[in-house]
Amino acid sequence: MSPISTDWSTEAIVARREKYYAASQRAFVPYKTPLIFAKGDRQYLWDEKGRKYIDLLGMNVCISVGHNHPTVTRAVTEQINQLQHCTTMFYHPVPAHFAEELVARMPAGHDWVVHFTNSGTEAIDLALVMAQMFTGNIDMLALRNAYHGATIGAQSLTGISGFRHDIPLLGGIHHMANPDPYRGVFGEDTAAYLAEIDRTIQYSTSGKLAGFIVEPIQGYGGIVETPPGYLKAAAETVRARGGVLIVDEVQSGFGRTGDNFWAFEGHAIVPEIVVMAKGIGNGFPLGAVVAERHVAEMLAGKFSFHTYGASPMSCAAGRAVLQVIDEEKLQQNSKKVGASLRKVLDRLHQKHEIVGAVRGHGLMLAIELVTDRKSKTPAAKETADVFERSRDNGLVMSKSGANRNILRMVPPMCITEADVAQVEDALERSFAGY
Ligand SMILES: Cc1ncc(COP(=O)(O)O)c(C=O)c1O
Repeated sequence: MSPISTDWSTEAIVARREKYYAASQRAFVPYKTPLIFAKGDRQYLWDEKGRKYIDLLGMNVCISVGHNHPTVTRAVTEQINQLQHCTTMFYHPVPAHFAEELVARMPAGHDWVVHFTNSGTEAIDLALVMAQMFTGNIDMLALRNAYHGATIGAQSLTGISGFRHDIPLLGGIHHMANPDPYRGVFGEDTAAYLAEIDRTIQYSTSGKLAGFIVEPIQGYGGIVETPPGYLKAAAETVRARGGVLIVDEVQSGFGRTGDNFWAFEGHAIVPEIVVMAKGIGNGFPLGAVVAERHVAEMLAGKFSFHTYGASPMSCAAGRAVLQVIDEEKLQQNSKKVGASLRKVLDRLHQKHEIVGAVRGHGLMLAIELVTDRKSKTPAAKETADVFERSRDNGLVMSKSGANRNILRMVPPMCITEADVAQVEDALERSFAGY
């Protein structure tokens, strides 16, 4: 068989994308000129010309344990060499083991079960169906500035207009003011955000809830951390109305926050349903809904069939990810190196007037840029400029938030202190003059 040839020239890639990609897939392009990646190794990336970058984005939080990690590669290669696919109608030990291993990461004393999907979006949709089926209620609470995915269900739960299409989205979903001490409508007043939940239930719902879906740390929204006490009180209110708590750990799970394996664990709550994806597979298409058995059991009567759900290849990657997180102590590394990176960002905040806020902990961090610290006017143009410069200075990050004025950093969890020193130097050069 002749080799399948690939044209790596920028012009050819651009031309093929322009001609053959749908507009919906062409739209999301961060830099002014294309960035083509040819190789990755742990926390580093190389473009097609051999230029090296420190990866502060991890392909949108997917690369949890590092690019091309040999343990993950070996696990997947061994699986491919045996059997590439086995749907859930047939039995295979790898997904079954992985389900057991995921359950072992969940809070003890609960009877957890797992449903594997191929992506976070699919898992979100399933979680929504589960909540509505279990409670027999329809009304769902969600937060403004949340991102939950791209399908009609997940898009309907998303609270950023840039991700919501001009189509009839699902009914029964009510977006509430998100608690955000920096930019939120009630500032640092957590009690006011909680009162907003009561008001929303009273005026916008039937009074009965299917649930509340929440990211413990809003990711695309710009690393907005849920304040202490909010989730616990919100869960009580929601449960009193018959609803369940769905926690979206798609970005914040798998030890990234450093303190806990799941971000919700820092809030003294145990959700009924947890959605996970991205870092779970280190780049392999994989997502999961982990729910309490009695909640998930309500779907027993129908087939919820994801053709590639519980793929042995992806689950082999997932098992390897868990092993690497433990053996390389990546949660601890996230805490330690994340604290150093946070100090770098805090120093930038002190030095550069344009930095309005620094947020996050562990390896979920962000800098918000404003034209004026008092008015907090989003500095979208300047963010784009700093962002382009950071690329020139060898960094890959993301421009996030509804106003695209937030630089988000969610690197592979194997990033080191030595990398942080280089990141500081590169950021200083990128912010020079601001
Ligand atoms: C918090 C959160 N939830 C859900 C999703 C959807 O996941 P996926 O892109 O795998 O469908 C994303 C994706 O970015 C996300 O960040």
